[in-house]
Amino acid sequence: FEDFKIIQTASSVPRRVVDNDELSTMMTTSDEWITQRTGIKRRHVAVQETTSSLATEVAAKLLANSGLKPTDIDLIVVATMSPDYLTPSTSALVQGNLGADQAIAFDIDAACSGFVYGLKVVRQMLKADWPMHAILIGAETLSKLVDWHDRTTSVLFGDGAAGVLIANQPDHTGSFISEDLKTLGKLGKYLTAGQVGVKSPFAAAETTYSPFFKMNGHRVYGFAVKNVPESINRALKQANMTVEDVDCFVLHQANKRIIEKIADTLGAPMSKFPVNIHEYGNTSAASEPILLDELVANQTIKRGDVIALSGFGGGLTVGTMIIRY
Ligand code: ACO
Repeated sequence: FEDFKIIQTASSVPRRVVDNDELSTMMTTSDEWITQRTGIKRRHVAVQETTSSLATEVAAKLLANSGLKPTDIDLIVVATMSPDYLTPSTSALVQGNLGADQAIAFDIDAACSGFVYGLKVVRQMLKADWPMHAILIGAETLSKLVDWHDRTTSVLFGDGAAGVLIANQPDHTGSFISEDLKTLGKLGKYLTAGQVGVKSPFAAAETTYSPFFKMNGHRVYGFAVKNVPESINRALKQANMTVEDVDCFVLHQANKRIIEKIADTLGAPMSKFPVNIHEYGNTSAASEPILLDELVANQTIKRGDVIALSGFGGGLTVGTMIIRY
């Protein structure tokens, strides 16, 4: 299927920046520990921004840069694990804020794989010849799911949003090449957040709402360094390609060490694995589109380049999509 093209990219991050030194005044940690273990130097943290306000700003930029009207949009999908509400969906809020009255809107939650999973969903809908114009956004305010007293998780995450305008018009140079998605639900408890409480009078026991991240960092690390190269290799094989054919690997930014290990396993140079985790931390579903937007803006990624997007995280999930940009 050739008519899959990313027309525009855009991003929006909160203005408030919290660096490692500031965190070191709040808990027993240090810039040295965080930098060495993760590559993170600072993260953007929502003050007044919400997941839907960041996503709305991304959508508005996509429209402004493309010259389309809100009513030209047929589909809005937001990938998020930190929505404003369970309902309405973040994407419905964005649709309302934009006045994109013709668009249907729904969220998907595949945590840090959300952007790649979202691309698959949007692609399948485009394939059916509808819609013509879709907006896919990864948007997160993970700061509300972080226990700011827990140094083992709070130093890792950040807030932000970014997305793409995709179309299936026939005048395209960009195209879909191949994909590989996998879910390992049996490992899901290694990374949880936002456990919903039960207060029903009929429930055997009441449970309280527990917003905070709980993570077995070692297990998630091991999962990522094994499953991401495997996923990328399966997607490459499907396309009869090798790592040499890929111009740029746009990986989920969870930990710089994870990315270095993946590059090593694949036998590809780190120069093909751009990293911006120092600036944003782990922004889950937003991390790949934030990086993609940066790379398009600074012309590291140009029209016609082969790029491999790969996400991994909560679920546990992993997903790779190879496209010609
Ligand atoms: N500052 C200082 N010391 C710390 C901190 C901190 N912020 N956090 C932990 N430590 C201490 C620990 O208590 C431990 O001390 P001890 O040896 O006295 O017990 C020591 O540092 C080492 O801790 P480890 O957990 O062994 O550190 P590790 O090198 O494994 O790094 C990390 C931890 C960064 C979390 C790593 O395991 C990792 O990146 N895992 C993958 C996480 C990930 O990718 N998550 C993605 C989820 S994405 C999504 O879906 C939301």
